[in-house]
Amino acid sequence: MICLLLLTLPLLGNSVPVIQGKKGAKIVGGNEAKEGEWPWQVSLRAKFGGYWIHICGGSLIHPSWILTAAHCVESAQMDTSRYMIQLRQQNLYEDDELVPLEKIIIHPEYDHYMAGSDLALLKLQCPVQLTNTIQTITLPEVSQIFTPDMECWVTGWGNIKTGVHLPPPYTLRQVQVPLLDAQKCDEEYHVGAYTSSSVKIITDDMLCAGKPNVDSCQGDSGGPLVCKVGDSWKQAGVVSWGLGCGLPHRPGIYTRVTSYVDWINKYISPCSSANPARG
Ligand code: ARG
Repeated sequence: MICLLLLTLPLLGNSVPVIQGKKGAKIVGGNEAKEGEWPWQVSLRAKFGGYWIHICGGSLIHPSWILTAAHCVESAQMDTSRYMIQLRQQNLYEDDELVPLEKIIIHPEYDHYMAGSDLALLKLQCPVQLTNTIQTITLPEVSQIFTPDMECWVTGWGNIKTGVHLPPPYTLRQVQVPLLDAQKCDEEYHVGAYTSSSVKIITDDMLCAGKPNVDSCQGDSGGPLVCKVGDSWKQAGVVSWGLGCGLPHRPGIYTRVTSYVDWINKYISPCSSANPARG
């Protein structure tokens, strides 16, 4: 929650003119998304001082369902009225059309994001009308393997560096991130840490992506990491945590969607029979 508040504070105050980032000094290595790209990206809002402030990202996975991180909503599981969803927007807060929630479902095993299961489903009160600019992202099959050679991108309105907020007009940003092999990622997190190498820091239900100066950051949490499979995009991860942003030996950690896709499908398509294809 602390990281969420940090993002929001500058939006509340009388903002000092912010110098736009130089070309090259980008959002932990990214750039602005084009209008209409990433049509599944949503902004999760919570009310602070009368304003619906961006606290996390999320993705539209069904006309009635948003996938986000559990740590984005953990403090108020039952109170859906504390949150709203803004569907794909180019600049945050520009002509907001907020959609209320009906239900918040936090993964039952979730305890703390560093322990995995950092996932929540948000049901919208009314299904959204899909358009050219508002689309769902496909979830992978359980058997889908995301490999380091795939093209993967993460998107959001989060910080552009550790502790540095995205300046107005808060245009959605994107960055292409390399996926890391799980074991390699665990090794990286042990560099300069006191944890014994026999103790896993990165568990099997997490996915790592990024490299120095190429990462997601605070405020991107809950947002989608998508990879190109054939010629369609599939959601491989949900932004979960990291130590700082874009630091050496500290790649971004994502909740691995394939580990939870059965759990998700139970809610979003309860009537479809189990997938007959085995792989
Ligand atoms: N926990 C952060 C949030 O609430 C996300 C951090 C992601 N960090 C990273 N280095 N990829 O927004």
